Amino acid sequence: MARRRTIYACTHCGAQQPRWLGRCPECQTWDSLVEEAARPDPTDGESLSGEARDLLEVEGAAGSAKPRRLGEIESRNTPRLSSGVAELDRVLGGGGQGYAGPPGGGGQGLAGPQTGGFVPGSVVLLGGEPGVGKSTLALQVAALVQSRGEPGAPGGALYISGEESPAQIRLRADRLPASASTDAVQVLAETRVESFAEPWRDCAPSLVVIDSVQTMRTQRIESAPGSVAQVRESAALLAATAKLHGTVLLLVGHVTKDGSLAGPRVLEHLVDVVLGFEGDRNHAFRLLRASKNRFGSTQEVGVFSMGEAGLQGVANPSELFLAERARDAPGSCIIPLVEGTRPMLVEVQALVAPATYGTPRRTTIGIEDGRVALILAVLDRRSDVDLLSRDVYVNVVGGVRVSEPAADLALALAIVSSALDLPLPPDAAACGEVGLGGEVRRVAQLGPRIREAARLGFRRVLVPRGVGAALRGIEGCESIEVADVAEAVSWLRGSRAESASPRSSKRA
Ligand code: TYD
Ligand code: MG
Repeated sequence: MARRRTIYACTHCGAQQPRWLGRCPECQTWDSLVEEAARPDPTDGESLSGEARDLLEVEGAAGSAKPRRLGEIESRNTPRLSSGVAELDRVLGGGGQGYAGPPGGGGQGLAGPQTGGFVPGSVVLLGGEPGVGKSTLALQVAALVQSRGEPGAPGGALYISGEESPAQIRLRADRLPASASTDAVQVLAETRVESFAEPWRDCAPSLVVIDSVQTMRTQRIESAPGSVAQVRESAALLAATAKLHGTVLLLVGHVTKDGSLAGPRVLEHLVDVVLGFEGDRNHAFRLLRASKNRFGSTQEVGVFSMGEAGLQGVANPSELFLAERARDAPGSCIIPLVEGTRPMLVEVQALVAPATYGTPRRTTIGIEDGRVALILAVLDRRSDVDLLSRDVYVNVVGGVRVSEPAADLALALAIVSSALDLPLPPDAAACGEVGLGGEVRRVAQLGPRIREAARLGFRRVLVPRGVGAALRGIEGCESIEVADVAEAVSWLRGSRAESASPRSSKRA
C-alpha cells in the first residue's frame, strides 16, 4: 500500500502546494490553504470500489478512443430539453432563430424547435448566495421537466439533496405552483457520490439535481466534504456520469458575497453552463444570468419574483419595478437599462441632505460607490449645484443592481432633483454616460431602451446629443438631446417652470 501523501489546497482558487503557506502563491489570498490528502493515482484501478468504477465507465472508454476527422463528424442539432421554466430556458439559449429543429421532428420528450432549454448530457452549475432561491428553482425545474409526460419520454428528474431531508423537500414542494407535479420527482437524501450509480441507472432520469455540490463526497479522496478537492472530484465524477448517460446534470453551488467558498470557482472550467442567481433576499426580485454558456449566448437574463408559491417568471420587469413609484417626488429618475438583450426600466432615488457632521456621508445601495462619487464630483465642478458639503444617499428601487454607465445621466438628474427639491416630470426618463468633463456620451442599444420607455408611457427621454435622428421613428416618445450635465440641469429647471407646479412655488 502506498504511503499517504498530504498536500495543501487553496480554498479560493484550488491551487495545490506541497507545504503550508500563509498566502496562496497563485491567487495571493491570505490564510486560504488547507490540508488535504493527495488524490490517489487514477490509473490505479485497485483503489476504486466497484460502484466508483461504474460511475467512471466513461473514463475507461476514453482510453480506447480514436480521433476522427472533424469533417466526418455528423453535425447534429441536438434537440433541447425544456426546463419547463420559460425564463430559465431563455438563459440556457437555443430557442428562436438559427435553430431548425431535429430532422425527424423530435417527439422523444424533447422540446420543439422554438424553445430553448438544456442540452442533453450537459452540466449546469447554478451558483448563488444562500437563501436566494437556488433549491426552489432546482425543485421547480425537477418537477416541471417531469410533468410534461410526453409518450416515450426518458425518466423525469432525480433530486439528490445533501442539505435537506426528504420531508423538508416535500414541504417545499407543497408550496410550489400546482403545475409542478411533485409525486413524479424521485428524491434521494445522500451525499456519497458512489451510491448514486444504482438509482441513476434504474430511474434513467433526464435531469439529475445535486443540491448542493459542496455537500457531496467521494471515496476516492480522503479530505472532508466541502473541501476543494472533494468538491472538484465529486463534480468530475458526476459530470462524467451525466455525459455517459446523456443526463442533464444541474449542480447547485453556494457562493458567498466575495465568491470565496470552495466550489463554484473551481468548478467553472468543468461544467458547460455557469448560471448565477442574484437578488436581494429582502426583495422578491431575482435575476438569473449565464456567465459561461457553451451552447448559447451569455447575453440573456431571466427575471423572477419569489412569492408565496415559489419562483414566478416576470415577463414585464419594468412594470414590476415601477409599480410603487411616487410620481411627483423629487430625487427620483427612471433609467432604461438593458440587461443582455432585454430592456427594463428601473427607478434610481437620491436624497441630498445637509451634512450634520464634519465629513458628508455618501451611502449607496444597488449602485457602485465609485460611480456615485464620480457623478457628484462632476456635478460639483461642471454645474452650478453645490453638493460638496451635503450628505448624499442613493438607492436603486427593487433590489436591482445597476452597473451600466448608461445610468449616469439618470443618477445625476436624481441627485440634482433632490438637491434643488425639483421633481422630474413624471413622464421623463434619462439615459447616457457622463464623462469627467461633464459631457453626456452615447450608450449602446438606445433604440430598445427608448421603445421600452415609450411602451410604459414615458413621453420624453433625455439622450446624448446627436442621437435624436436615429430615434425619430419611435412613436410617442420625444428625445431631448443634452450635451452635458449643465444642460440637463437647466432642462430640469425649465421643465418645472413650464409646468408651473405648485411645489416649486412652495420653496420660494
Ligand atoms: P432556497 O431555495 O432555500 O434558497 P437557497 O437554496 O438558494 O439557499 O430559498 C430560500 C428562501 O426562499 C427562503 O427565505 C424562503 C423563500 N421562499 C419563498 O419566499 N417562497 C417559496 O415558495 C419558497 C419555496 C421559498
Ligand atoms: Mg438550498
